[in-house]
Amino acid sequence: HGVRQLEPEVLVFHLSSPKKCIAMIITLPQLLKPEQVAHTQALLASAAWQNGRSSAGDQAVQVKNNEQLPHDDPVATQLRAMVMQALDREPLFLSAALPKKILPPRFNRYEGESNFYGQHVDNAIRFAPLTRERIRTDISCTVFLADPADYDGGELVVHEAGRQQQVKLSAGSAVLYPGTSVHEVRPVTRGARLACFFWIESMVRLDEQRRILFEMDMALMKLRTEHGDNPATVALTGTYHNLLRLWAET
Ligand code: NI
Repeated sequence: HGVRQLEPEVLVFHLSSPKKCIAMIITLPQLLKPEQVAHTQALLASAAWQNGRSSAGDQAVQVKNNEQLPHDDPVATQLRAMVMQALDREPLFLSAALPKKILPPRFNRYEGESNFYGQHVDNAIRFAPLTRERIRTDISCTVFLADPADYDGGELVVHEAGRQQQVKLSAGSAVLYPGTSVHEVRPVTRGARLACFFWIESMVRLDEQRRILFEMDMALMKLRTEHGDNPATVALTGTYHNLLRLWAET
């Protein structure tokens, strides 16, 4: 089904029935290294947090109650570059998201009175802050930045097709989930939940097609690792790229 648990230390909770999930939810374990997480936590502890309503759409703003760093905050600028670099060298991210454009990552905090983000949908089209370039939000990404032991609640809940999946990951790990989903962040009842979040416009718009490409790529990688290259893996790699040619917009 939809949740890939790639590493045992990554916590993924399932509320839903074990039936096939519609949403493709993929975790990227330890996208950030422990020293990067520590550096991030230190910077965010004394950052200039502001009310998070400024970046929400008309529906979302009604239920949004958290804090964010302004886009031009120096801490945000520094950490954004670190996250973008990490994404760029993460093969799992590139394979799963097939990114065409990435909205500059932002940072948020849930704690105290500002501790939840109720059920909402994300705007389909967003504008990059500096260039005003339009970006379609095919995929949402959250990078968890606080140690799960340091806060209670704060699960990301993704609702789709009448089911819900809860995600709360170790600090430095990330989750990709479909931009098409209704989702929420459950109230934080102790401590602070820190996260980085952003959207991706994929070269492949449809979740179903991205899923096929991702599963094929993962299987091919496994075949190559276990058996080396052979005419069959070369042929299948060709098929992967031919599907990508059919479905991708560059
Ligand atoms: Ni959202």
